[in-house]
This record gives sequence, structure tokens and C-alpha cells, in this order.
Amino acid sequence: MSKILIRGAKVLGGETRDVLIDGETIAEVGTDLEAGDATVVEAAGQILLPGLVDLHTHLREPGREDSETVLTGTRAAAVGGFTAVHAMANTFPVADTAGVVEQVYRLGKESGYCDVQPIGAVTVGLEGKKLAELGAMHDSAAGVKVFSDDGKCVDDAVIMRRALEYVKAFDGVVAQHAQEPRLTEGAQMNEGIVSAELGLGGWPAVAEESIIARDVLLAAHVGSRVHICHLSTAGSVEIVRWAKSKGWNVTAEVTPHHLLLTDDLVRTYNPVYKVNPPLRTEADVLALREALADGTIDCVATDHAPHPHEDKDCEWAAAAMGMVGLETALSVVQQTMVDTGLLDWAAVADRMSFRPAQIGRLDGHGRPVSAGEPANLTLVDPAYRGLVDPAGFASRSRNTPYQGRELPGRVTHTFLRGRATVVDGKLA
Ligand code: DOR
Ligand code: ZN
Ligand code: ZN
Repeated sequence: MSKILIRGAKVLGGETRDVLIDGETIAEVGTDLEAGDATVVEAAGQILLPGLVDLHTHLREPGREDSETVLTGTRAAAVGGFTAVHAMANTFPVADTAGVVEQVYRLGKESGYCDVQPIGAVTVGLEGKKLAELGAMHDSAAGVKVFSDDGKCVDDAVIMRRALEYVKAFDGVVAQHAQEPRLTEGAQMNEGIVSAELGLGGWPAVAEESIIARDVLLAAHVGSRVHICHLSTAGSVEIVRWAKSKGWNVTAEVTPHHLLLTDDLVRTYNPVYKVNPPLRTEADVLALREALADGTIDCVATDHAPHPHEDKDCEWAAAAMGMVGLETALSVVQQTMVDTGLLDWAAVADRMSFRPAQIGRLDGHGRPVSAGEPANLTLVDPAYRGLVDPAGFASRSRNTPYQGRELPGRVTHTFLRGRATVVDGKLA
């Protein structure tokens, strides 16, 4: 069994420690550990985090392998410091049966770069009409616990109620893409000053907030767990804060792009900024940062949404919605949350590893960096500065809004159960 000694990294209390990995496990955390026959990774000045966990990744396989595959998506995840991702169900065919979720699960096992936990669709074909086979997906080898029609909102209140009732039996959770469809017909961007100036159809905040309000009430009524995907407005934060104050089982995520970018960027008409939910205002961005800092928003989730250039390099109205995010997520969180003093690295571990694993009830991930735990680890150099170059992405797609931007920090090493998937910032 191979041994690795990570020497002199900062661990989450801020102390400097050596970490010895033996096989798949953290054998020892201490000072001045003997290297012996271990491979040494010099980590002075670097932060050692538990392997990151993404609750919201679009891997596109099966069906859209021109955008991403499980292999290319898990490579991108490893480069971004992730050791586990939850794969969204809006594939072709939709992941609405035990057969499809098992296929994705198996492809994840074969990839070897990052664990893949499939998410199951809530309704057949994401059509919002008929509940999918939630129980069969849960009982399958994929062990699905998170269900979502992401890309679409479960807008029928009765279907949402039934889904919440159903998943309660096995402590599952429904992850809602909150978008009232009638209020967003023809919408192209956030509804506000910029949409009025550009004459583009607006996507009002209330379309998101009204569904969140309904769903936290439904979750409370049923006594079940609901998770809200990609919160994007200050009003959504207020509703989640209120629901949590009632003690209801409500969790929420925010994407890196909603922590950094605003709808002002749509003035460029560059479709790289077209995303669902849309980029909002500066006031929304600040409210989201504050909510992630105070724990109202539980976690960061990438909503990594790869699209081929034909679907993005076109006029705004015709372009697909979504951005890749796995390979830049931690840097954007460092810039918006750490370098601003809103979160320390221990809190980043909480929001990007512990809590997403907890929400997904994912075993073996989101564990403390201590002896006896699985060696799922991410080493980050926070002093690094570099320009984002999508040509170097491991993802099959290039639709990043950060091309040419300087972002801080870099994942130097990722370890999946003791095996290096990334070494010196490159895929192993
Ligand atoms: O921007 C988005 N892209 N939002 C979604 O909800 C779906 C996603 C996708 O699948 O491309
Ligand atoms: Zn979504
Ligand atoms: Zn999504």
C-alpha cells in the first residue's frame, strides 16, 4: 500500500501539520512526522481541505456527450478539488429510472477521478406530470437520495407534495429549481433596470421567491426535507432565513457565479453570461454572500453546466443557459468570501464539503481531516494568482464567464481515497 506524507500544510484550525496517508486512509495527523518510505508532498503555505463535494453538477452523459461525459466532467471536478459530485438528472434519456441512475453510477466508478452520486428525476421525463420511480432509484445500486427536475421547476404543488412525502420514507431530499414557469415565459435575463434598458424579457425575482415560499411551507406541512437549488435573490434569502427560524428542514445552495457576477454583464450581449437563474443585481450578490457567511445558505454548489460552442457562440436569445464551474469554483469562493473576510478556510470546508455531503447523505465524504478517515483531501495554494484560460480546461466545454480574468488560488493536489487525482495542478 502506498504512503504519502503531506508536509507542513495549514489544517482547518489554522495550525501547521503533517498528514500521513496510508493506502486509502489518513493514518496520522501530527508534527514532524517521519517520511519513511512515503512520497513527500511539500505543502508549506498551502491549505489542506477535506475533498470538496458538489451537490449540483451537470455531467451530460448519457445523451449530450458532445458537451461533457462522466469521464471529462469528473476530470474537471478533480482539477477543481472535488472528490464527489452529484450528477443532475436532465440527461437524455432522463435519469428517471433505476436503469439510468445505475448507468451513471457505474460510469462514475469507472472514471476513477471523482465519486459520482446520481440524482434522480422527480417526475417522468422531467415533465412535471407523473412521479418517477423514486423508490426504485433509491433501492438501486446507485442508492439515490437526492431527487430533482433541475432545469425545470416542479411547479405542480400536488406533485411536489407527493415527492416530499415519498422521499421522507428513506430520509431523501427534493432539490427544487425554483422558477414559476408562467412568470418567466420568454424571459432572457433578470427583470430590472438593465433588462428595461436592453429591452430584453425579464425574469422577475418573484418567480423564484414564490416557489421557494410555497415549497418551504409544503416541506413543513409534510415534515420532509427540501433543498433549494441556486438561490439568486435577496428575497429568496429572506424566505429561507424565515423557514430556518421556524426549525423546518430547509437547506439551500448558492453558485459561485451568483456570488460574483451581476446582470450588468448582460450589456455585453455575450451569451457566456446567460444562465438560469439569471445573474441578478449587486444588492442580491451582497445578500447571498452574507447569507452564505451566516449559514442561512448552507453550501456552495457549482451548477456546472457545460454546453458546446455551437449552443453558446450565437445570438443572446438563441444561446443555451449555463456556465461551466467545477474548475473555477474554489477560486471564486476565495475571491468573494475568503479574501473579503466573510469566511475563513474552516468555514469554506463546511460550505463546500461537510454540508453538501450531509445534505446528500453521502457516505465517506465531508469528513474531518483526522486519523482513521478516508483520505479524500484537497490542497490549495491561496497565494497563487493566474488568468483563467479555458483552453486548458479538463472539461469538454469552454463556456466559462471568467475567461481572461485573474482569480486567486489554485488546487495543487486532490486525493481520492489516498490516490492523487491531481498533482501540481495537473491531472495525475
Ligand atoms: O443555467 C442552467 N443550465 N440552469 C439550469 O437549471 C439547467 C442548466 C443546464 O442543464 O444547462
Ligand atoms: Zn437549475
Ligand atoms: Zn443545474
